[in-house]
Parts: sequence; structure tokens; C-alpha cells
Amino acid sequence: MKLWDGRFRENLEAGAETFGASIDFDQRLWRQDIRGSIAHARMLAACGLISREEMEQIVAGLESIAADLEAGQVELRREAEDIHMNIEELLTARIGEAGAKLHTARSRNDQVVLDLRLYAKAELAQVAAVLCKLQEVLLEQAKNHLDTLMPGYTHLQRAQPVTLAHHLLAYFAMLQRDFGRLSHAYDAADVCPLGAGALAATTLPINREMVARELCFSRVAENSLDAVSDRDFVLEFTGAACLIMMHLSRLAEEIILWATEEFGFVELPDAYSTGSSMMPQKKNPDVAELIRGKTGRVYGHHLALLTVLKGLPLAYNKDLQEDKEALFDTVDTVKACLEVCAGLLQALRFRREVMAEAAGGFTLATDLAEYLVRRGLPFRQAHRVVGRLVGYCLEQGRALADLTLDEYRRFSPEFGPDVLAVGDPRRSLERRDLPGGPAPEQVRLACARAREQLAGNRSHPMFAGE
Ligand code: ARG
Repeated sequence: MKLWDGRFRENLEAGAETFGASIDFDQRLWRQDIRGSIAHARMLAACGLISREEMEQIVAGLESIAADLEAGQVELRREAEDIHMNIEELLTARIGEAGAKLHTARSRNDQVVLDLRLYAKAELAQVAAVLCKLQEVLLEQAKNHLDTLMPGYTHLQRAQPVTLAHHLLAYFAMLQRDFGRLSHAYDAADVCPLGAGALAATTLPINREMVARELCFSRVAENSLDAVSDRDFVLEFTGAACLIMMHLSRLAEEIILWATEEFGFVELPDAYSTGSSMMPQKKNPDVAELIRGKTGRVYGHHLALLTVLKGLPLAYNKDLQEDKEALFDTVDTVKACLEVCAGLLQALRFRREVMAEAAGGFTLATDLAEYLVRRGLPFRQAHRVVGRLVGYCLEQGRALADLTLDEYRRFSPEFGPDVLAVGDPRRSLERRDLPGGPAPEQVRLACARAREQLAGNRSHPMFAGE
């Protein structure tokens, strides 16, 4: 017996039944499904579509099913296809006739997307919370390293001096934008589809606003066809997750590079690295590599969803069942990566001397050119003069800081005795004193701003619970 088999003369072929069943993965939605059904039943009673006693039986029955599911004491049946029909069958088995009234003025089409929206809202808040945790660690490490010099890179070639604090705050800024995207996805998910029915609402006098209020939705879906076929909120979630993963992957890549003997900027914490089964000396950055690696599957889910949706005529189509595994795995992956990344970053020990050493050398060549600009030389000429100076140093195997004033003057008469002071990377940093720049004073301000942003994030309504 199926809940829908009134018109059928033959049973569903066993392979087709297994093929179409979603219970193996959509059982994850049981809490949302029961919560939605309780709200729906209350509304049906309030509208006089079922009696008060029936409503109370339904609510008690659903609560007992929830308790049994929580305790792992329910056997879900693949023949019942999905979580919605499993729970409805269980309910009717437990309370009889009243259970058969629960589906009044409802379809699995509005029910499934209701469940998914409730799930997405809760999970968006969880992802956002772990994201804030990583932001906190970035901010703490930045504060520990306000005066840890390091070379900034372009093309992975040493470019100009920065501090580790400034570098880490760049990741804070990326995650801050991610927070904004999660907040936007939350808003997109915060729409109640119930009442859309299968596609064209219902002839029965229901109250959509009441259900929406009870389930803490800000608004009801405006169009019944859109309500059952819209999965934009899932894509906004997975899209935000893609950018989070891309940012984590870039950070992971830097940690991997910094932990090489060639860079030597960080000591990998034992607790976050592994050895080799063959090479006794190895210490591998597996955790960072896996974060980088898992980025691919999150991108994959996002693209899979876009592809599932692109050819669908309105309204519900069974293709939409494919939305769940993609979203579930995205949620699991992004949460795990954020969590482990926060732990790894907190445990990293940076080698200040190695980083400071690498920050010197030719990274002050632009400062020299700007010195000449202050003396009135057009920048292009100054650039050429310093380029020649660098070439001269390379020929002689010397550093810019080792040259005498006489040698400087051979390249430009504009060089004065104060040029010898230009070679100090800390002075160079102090001179980069603009909003958004790496001067220690600016970075201190940036830390204060980041602290405020984080406090703002943490008071976002999505954390108020439902
Ligand atoms: N398991 C289905 C899904 O995930 C639930 C909705 C089924 N609706 C239908 N008309 N077959 O999409």
C-alpha cells in the first residue's frame, strides 16, 4: 500500500522503487518535517478544517514519533519513499483516522521545500557561527603579530614588507564578506512556502500567515508555482559556501607553502600534521591539504544544482529531489573545514625571525624610488634609476643597504645622506600609513574595526534561534 496508490493497478517495480526513494538521505529532515506538520495541524484546527481533538491527537502522535526517532527506535521504510510519507504512515498507524487528516491542504511539494528552508536557516546560523570562530582566531593571531615583519608577495615573488597581522586581516576581510553572503542566503531561505499545495494552492480556507508565524518565517511565498519550484535559497547557500571554501583553500595553500623547508615561516603543530608511512623524517600538512582538496566537492555540488535546475519547467519536478544530498554534503564539508581551520590556525607557531629576515633585501626598492619622487623625480625615471641600482647590487652580490652614499650618487645626484635610512623595513612600514595600509598604527585600527564587525556578526538575528 502506498499513500497515493488509489488509481494504480500494479505495484511499483522494486528497482524503480529503490531508485526513486529518498529516505536514505532525507531522513536528516525529520525534525523539520515534524515541526512543520505540528504547525500545519494547529492551523488546520484554527481554521476549522479538523477538530481540536484531532489536532491534539496529531500533535501528540508526532511528538511520540519524534521521541522515538531521537532514541533511534523507529525503522524507516524505503517502500514509504521519503521522510514525509514515512512519518505520515507512522502517525496514521499510531493514531488512526486523525492521522489521515494531516495532509489536508498540503502537498509533499510545499512540505519538502518547507523542511529544506527550516533546515537551511538553522544550518546557515551554524555555519555563520563557526565562521565567526575562525574570524576570532584570525583576529587573535593578528594581535599576537602586530609587529611580525614578513614580505608581502606578488607573483609569489617577494614584493614589499608587510606584517603578519596585516596579512591575516586580509583573510578576516574575506570572511567578513562571506558572513554577508550567509546573511543574504538566510534572508532568501526565510520565506514560508506552505499553502502553495502541489502548485496551485488549495480550495480550502487555510491561513498561511499563521503557519509562517508559528514557524518563525518573516514572510510567505508570493507565488504558489514559485513556492514549490524555487531552490534559489539552496544555491545562495552553496554559492556562499563556494566562496568560503575558496578563501579557506587560499589560506590552506599559504600554510602549506609556509610550512615547507623552503619558506620555513611556520612550525606545523604535531596535533595538526601527520607522518609518512615510508619516510621517517616527514611531517605533512594533511589538514591544510584536505581543506584545499574538499573545496572541489563544494564547487561540484553548486554546479550540480545549477545544472539540475536549468531545464526545469514549472512547477515541481522530481529532479528537485537531487537538491538535498548536494546541500547536506556542502553543509557538512564547509562546517568541518571552518572548524578544523580555526584549530589549525590557533595552533600554528610562526617563526618571527625567519619571516623578518625574508622581509628585507630588495623589498625596499619601491621605497627608494618613492624617495626620489619626493625629491621631484618623475616616478618612471625614479623606477629606472632604482632598477639599475638593483642590477648593480645583483652583479656585485650585495644588498641595497650595503651601498655607500657615493655609490648611490653614481646613479642619481638626487640621493642625499638620508637615503641610507631608507633601508629599514620597519621604517618602511611606518611610512605606509594610509587607511587599509600595513603601518602598525593602521593595523591596530583595523583590529579594532574587525572586533566591532565580529560583535555585529554575533548579534545577527539568525542567531536568535527560532
Ligand atoms: N522526496 C521528494 C523530494 O525530495 C518529496 C517531494 C515529492 N513530491 C512529489 N510530487 N513526488 O523532492
